[in-house]
Amino acid sequence: MLKGLEGKTALVTGASGEIGRAACARLLAEGANVIGLDLNQSALDTHLDARVVKVAGSVSDPQAVAAAVDAAIEQFGGLDLAFLNAGVECRAAPVVDFSEREYERVFDVNVRGIFLCAQAVVRHLLDSDKPGALLLMASIAGLQGSPNTAIYNASKHAVIGLGKSLALEVGSKGIRVNMICPGTIDTRMMHSLEETMGAASGIDARDMHNMMAAGNALGRYGTAEEIASMAVWALSDEAPYCHGETLTISGGLTA
Ligand SMILES: NC(=O)c1ccc[n+]([C@@H]2O[C@H](COP(=O)([O-])OP(=O)(O)OC[C@H]3O[C@@H](n4cnc5c(N)ncnc54)[C@H](O)[C@@H]3O)[C@@H](O)[C@H]2O)c1
Repeated sequence: MLKGLEGKTALVTGASGEIGRAACARLLAEGANVIGLDLNQSALDTHLDARVVKVAGSVSDPQAVAAAVDAAIEQFGGLDLAFLNAGVECRAAPVVDFSEREYERVFDVNVRGIFLCAQAVVRHLLDSDKPGALLLMASIAGLQGSPNTAIYNASKHAVIGLGKSLALEVGSKGIRVNMICPGTIDTRMMHSLEETMGAASGIDARDMHNMMAAGNALGRYGTAEEIASMAVWALSDEAPYCHGETLTISGGLTA
């Protein structure tokens, strides 16, 4: 068992997605209470354990975010931890071909959503005079450029900037903030990117998968459980000096 998770309450956003559900399962296994926020009630009900308190709504809707914090207060007396994981990909296209609408959709979830959730969680922790930990979902795409996914890359760069700044503001209050940057992980999102990035470059999705897997030193995609393992560690008391860090987990991405 990891130190400092038993009896704590964690918010996980994007909870019914593949990384989100792996994180919820791992947090439950470590003895934490979990509030899962995602768009769709039936997906939450289908994918998550009955012990997860499920809130349907968007991370970019302040009322849904407030409902998730309120649920934590009502059910468990408050929140201690947050894994702000919800995110969307963009289609694959060069910068000159993206519409403003596409830009707004990705930034609305990946940046505004994390901003609103982080703000609500930190306000709650400060008001309750409690220590806590937040982990913001970025990506290796937040550390580098790639052709045809500029909107996504830009949004993940923004998450890192937000988290680094927040960490400087709240560290002295006992609130840790870190960012996690996965490489290529075997989930629905990556399969969607294989299709659209492959189509943009005239490469079959299966070949795209193999090329991307070969792009890291381990020669394979990571799993949602491997990301959840690092995420839950970063939220736990096993990582007390890990603060304001950009944690990469990519199998040694060489591309
Ligand atoms: N899969 C990868 O290779 C990879 C790599 C780096 C980072 N990430 C990031 O990991 C996170 C999780 O992605 P995943 O791979 O599990 O994909 P996924 O599509 O399985 O999960 C994303 C989840 O976020 C939810 N979501 C989307 N918009 C939302 C909103 N407005 N409000 C609440 N929930 C919303 C979706 O419903 C879905 O359940 C994302 O932020 C993604 O950018 C993924």
